[in-house]
Amino acid sequence: MRSRFARGLDMLEARESVRNLPTYHPPLGGRVGLRLDFNENTLGCSPRVLARLREITAEEVACYPDREPVEAVVARHLGIDSQELLLTNGVDEAIHLLCETFLEPGDEALIVVPTFAMYGISAAATGARVLSVPTDAEFRFPASDLLSQVTPRTRLIAIANPNNPTGCAAEPAILVEIARSVPQAAILVDEAYFEFYGHTALRQWRNVPNLFVARTFSKAYGLAGLRIGALTGNAERVPLVRRVSSPYNVNSLALVCVLAALEDENYIRHYVSQVREGRNELQREFSQRGIRYWPSEANFVLASFGPLKTALIQSMRARGILVRDRSGDHGCEGCVRITLGSAEQNAQLLRALREVLAEIGAKGVVVK
Ligand SMILES: Cc1ncc(COP(=O)(O)O)c(C=O)c1O
Repeated sequence: MRSRFARGLDMLEARESVRNLPTYHPPLGGRVGLRLDFNENTLGCSPRVLARLREITAEEVACYPDREPVEAVVARHLGIDSQELLLTNGVDEAIHLLCETFLEPGDEALIVVPTFAMYGISAAATGARVLSVPTDAEFRFPASDLLSQVTPRTRLIAIANPNNPTGCAAEPAILVEIARSVPQAAILVDEAYFEFYGHTALRQWRNVPNLFVARTFSKAYGLAGLRIGALTGNAERVPLVRRVSSPYNVNSLALVCVLAALEDENYIRHYVSQVREGRNELQREFSQRGIRYWPSEANFVLASFGPLKTALIQSMRARGILVRDRSGDHGCEGCVRITLGSAEQNAQLLRALREVLAEIGAKGVVVK
């Protein structure tokens, strides 16, 4: 009997929305050196986390993870109720779950560009239309342009605050106002870089129930490899997202480590203060040299090196320092994003940057 498959009929195909998706492939290969390219914690997690990992028993690994007791602790840490929080496999999964919960094919999702890639990817995968609202040359948050794009089909607005790759932030009150004026849409305020900024839209969902705030343990806490974040929101809306989530989405090692990380707030405080100091120094250096940069509220700074961008990245790499080419992002031609770290690492960065700028003759690079 001739197989139906031999005729090429009924071949397995992905959904159209997935067929149309580009592959997102961050440049993770060959990351040897001082990693100032992915906005990670450059010193690593607290020693308490490593100590806890060393104590893991075979039984703990054998058991399915139980996230709810840890959710209670994280919620208490954030000053919110357990029903207002869902632990996720990083903010990446929080974005995915929000899209799965609220978007239907043909709905519209609004994002501000340039921004973090996963909003567009997760929204488009559902079959929703992703509409990009561009920022101006200063990367200021385009509140009125965003609102002018809202239609009855707008079901998601995703905003990184502070934004990646620009480091620019909007007043949380403005984002809450946007949520209030678009009640048919889930508004995600992604606070992945909260610790370096200090202002939050947390808890505002009690009055504005379509607002969600995401936090991660990947950045300041140094747990990016373990994959753990939190989606927070109104106590009646978060359970809807929970329905879509696997009960085992966060693994047991991440769960025990996050508890250890939360017990060592001093470690985070000290690290964040060094990052902020390094951010000021780097921005001062750019100012003095007339190199265009965008004042940042995160653990990185975006700067424009124009035609010298590739030479700068390569010369930094030759000195063992990895920085990230962001020139492919909207409005970021010639731009490089540089993550800050400990005081020592920031000093190493500045030394290398000065040498490289002398080497590639960038003294007069002003790309305004
Ligand atoms: C704005 C923003 N949100 C989320 C993430 C990813 O966070 P997580 O590691 O928790 O998935 C990143 C990582 O670069 C980011 O820049």
